[in-house]
Amino acid sequence: ESGKLWGGRFAGSVDPTMDKFNSSIAYDRHLWNVDLQGSKAYSRGLEKAGLLTKAEMQQILQGLDKVAEEWAQGIFKLYPNDEDIHTANERRLKELIGEAAGKLHTGRSRNDQVVTDLRLWMRQTCSKLSTFLKVLIEAMVDRAEAECEVLFPGYTHLQRAQPIRWSHWILSHAVALTRDLERLKEVQKRINVLPLGSGAIAGNPLGVDREFLCAELNFGAITLNSMDATSERDFVAEFLFWASLCMTHLSRMAEDLILYGTKEFNFVQLSDAYSTGSSLMPQKKNPDSLELIRSKAGRVFGRCAGLLMTLKGLPSTYNKDLQEDKEAVFEVSDTMTAVLQVATGVISTLQIHRENMAQALSPDMLATDLAYYLVRKGMPFRQAHEASGKAVVVAEMKGVALNQLSLQELQTVSPLFSSDVNLVWDYSHSVEQYTALGGTAQSSVEWQISQLCCPETHS
Ligand code: ARG
Repeated sequence: ESGKLWGGRFAGSVDPTMDKFNSSIAYDRHLWNVDLQGSKAYSRGLEKAGLLTKAEMQQILQGLDKVAEEWAQGIFKLYPNDEDIHTANERRLKELIGEAAGKLHTGRSRNDQVVTDLRLWMRQTCSKLSTFLKVLIEAMVDRAEAECEVLFPGYTHLQRAQPIRWSHWILSHAVALTRDLERLKEVQKRINVLPLGSGAIAGNPLGVDREFLCAELNFGAITLNSMDATSERDFVAEFLFWASLCMTHLSRMAEDLILYGTKEFNFVQLSDAYSTGSSLMPQKKNPDSLELIRSKAGRVFGRCAGLLMTLKGLPSTYNKDLQEDKEAVFEVSDTMTAVLQVATGVISTLQIHRENMAQALSPDMLATDLAYYLVRKGMPFRQAHEASGKAVVVAEMKGVALNQLSLQELQTVSPLFSSDVNLVWDYSHSVEQYTALGGTAQSSVEWQISQLCCPETHS
């Protein structure tokens, strides 16, 4: 006997290199708990279908609980022949309860078992990740609320563009993360579908009630087709894509903060708790937390691309290639857990330098508002844009800031300028004009916060 679950038709033994190559226990042991949970539900299903007596079911359930205890206490002993978590748990069950254990796998295949386990595991993990993401968004919204009066330069192409509220910048990133939260909810819905009872490919011939299994394991629905159910990993691909997009957002935010934290910008300062020093240059304080967030994005994209590559050439139904889905899921889950927590820490402990932010505002950033001034006096926008551009040139030729031009000088550009043009040079006045929903005026920033705080009113 080969000692394998599938040993019956084998005469020769497996090469040790192949044994190691084939084994997934090193990582799928993370599934021990959900594997036992699935088996408990399945043994109830077998009893309901008349395939186990009540007594056999009780024996199996108690045995599975004992196995769970061993894992929980860290005393579960793995054997070299434990190919994967399913094999290991069943082997141990048999040692504990004897022959009745041999009935547990009736009508089941590791093909429907492993994908049930993975869905159960991901269901738990996604709800944890969803909480971490909510906490991060809350930390961002809190800052946006508390620091609403702070203004600083907004950039396009990394060139000074228009004055904006600091809160408007924070919320621009929080809003992206809110979409990630919504997207995760969608993915969770598609994870929460039960494949158990699909067997290896053809379904279950022994009358197992899948609706019953679904209720036992608290799934939202059952899979429609046994061939699809045992081999589709759309929910894994979607999860990895969800993570990739969320990391894209976090990486972009990290990049902004890295720039804003340089001495050249000097708008923000990372707390010591999220920085590190240099072993050579004593003055250095480096934003390693943000750089690592940026780099983890690459790792997560790699896992997403890798899985899609694995899936794309597979013939119908289960192939061993699918065993490789789990490392991607585990690694990305761990990465997302760490990244979301570190990002929350960075955001909630970040210091801002309000004076530097205010000083970085310059009158040229008001050239757009100067054009809008003329629009309000009745000039068509294209003409106003041209006139404001001319004023910029006049100031440049005189070597003065745009707001240093005299009224007479402005009037050489357009006779519509009058003394009330002075208001244009006030930065607070500037941002307060942008009242349309979604803009940087205080009322609009407050509206954004209210939408983020109660997303159900958000269409
Ligand atoms: N360890 C395998 C996996 O992770 C379990 C399924 C094995 N099924 C099979 N037909 N060999 O995918």
